[in-house]
Amino acid sequence: MKLLVIGSGAREHALAWKLAESSHKRFPATVFVAPGNAGTELEKDLKNLPITAIPDLIEFARKESVAFTVVGPEAPLAEGIVDAFRSAGLKIFGPTQKAAQLETSKDFAKAFMGRHGIPTADYATFSSAARAHRYVDKKGVPIVIKADGLAAGKGVVVAMTLEEAHAAVDRMLGEKRPRKAGPKIVIEEFVEGEEISFIVMSDGRHTLPLATSQDHKRLEEGDQGPNTGGMGAYSPAPSITPTLHGKIMREVIQPAINGMEKEGERYTGFLYAGLMITPGGGIKVLEFNCRMGDPEAEVILLRLKSNLITLIEHALAGNLDKIEAEWDRRTALGVVMAASGYPDSPRKGDAIQGLTALPAMLPAEKDYHVFHAGTGTTGGGENGEEIVTAGGRVLCVAALGDSVRMAQRRAYQIAGQIHFEGCQMRPDIGYRAINHRK
Ligand code: AMP
Ligand code: GLY
Repeated sequence: MKLLVIGSGAREHALAWKLAESSHKRFPATVFVAPGNAGTELEKDLKNLPITAIPDLIEFARKESVAFTVVGPEAPLAEGIVDAFRSAGLKIFGPTQKAAQLETSKDFAKAFMGRHGIPTADYATFSSAARAHRYVDKKGVPIVIKADGLAAGKGVVVAMTLEEAHAAVDRMLGEKRPRKAGPKIVIEEFVEGEEISFIVMSDGRHTLPLATSQDHKRLEEGDQGPNTGGMGAYSPAPSITPTLHGKIMREVIQPAINGMEKEGERYTGFLYAGLMITPGGGIKVLEFNCRMGDPEAEVILLRLKSNLITLIEHALAGNLDKIEAEWDRRTALGVVMAASGYPDSPRKGDAIQGLTALPAMLPAEKDYHVFHAGTGTTGGGENGEEIVTAGGRVLCVAALGDSVRMAQRRAYQIAGQIHFEGCQMRPDIGYRAINHRK
């Protein structure tokens, strides 16, 4: 059996690693990762495929009789990879280009939520900078400015001052851009509360919620500093009680999946809702993503006990209502090691030490995994081939433990064995979960 994972981050490393592990329970599969990273290249059952163009991927999947493909990141979904694979008669797990608008257009997502009664912050959409400035002045701060399209995590400004808000409007819309062809922004009410991630699989009709998780988006200790893609995560998220879980399924997930079906664009794939739980216990959707979160995927997949191949096969066949997912009862916690200069201008090419010594140090390898994100190899110097940093987030060290604290200790213990120049690593991943338990 051959499987294909599209992407090159730690989320895709985790997906491919779990698929390979799942295949051993049946018949060993080769899992291709396109294009992958140094970590996926190191794994015994994974094989990097250095192609990214959709027609080339289709040709490969056909020639190699790939059983199914799983898409990790949003960019190929926005490009229409699912539509193209399906037209070629190939099985692929992910949303179509139109369904992916839930992530790729904030304006689409907000209007969609309005049409289907999904709770979200009040907003208005603008393509005229002058009108946007007037609206900001009328509403005051704090206020949130969002670029309409995909912006690789840089499209949202939570403005605490009017200066910041006006500067964001100017940066995203420009002062003299033509109104019609120009970009759009969404200006949104600031919502206070605790932010959580809620991720499900959908076959277009039925949904299977994955284990709960929560990430730390800010760069620095104590949730300070600039927003990032995520500096660490843990699963489960203790703040998602069974009551809240039910409420999220009823008020957000089910209406979203039903709404897409009603609008003639069934949503298949992973669906990620970024939610704010307000102090009064209400829910507001901040965003939808048409993929798993990263680093949420790493901790969720480390806890998955069910066969991931079977789950995806059920999703592809429209039978997700006939299966349940089983999770390790322990907590998984993942710590991101990021490059110097991340998130603005990550430095590349720093040698990473300590990766190979790990299995010997901790023989119970199954209780942790070092997922690679931005890593590459270089045929460098006396050491032969070296693994070097090649992106903003470099590694995600994920570990299991009987409590949040134990998972945290383990993850940091392992991360402490790995070194590269200028590494940025938050020392406090999981602190919210620990405080929650108190
Ligand atoms: P988004 O990509 O829309 O999730 O925004 C990125 C981050 O900005 C979120 O993870 C939140 O931390 C923050 N954010 C977005 N929208 C709001 C809002 N309406 N109120 C407060 N914070 C927000
Ligand atoms: N960790 C947040 C995201 O993947 O969007």
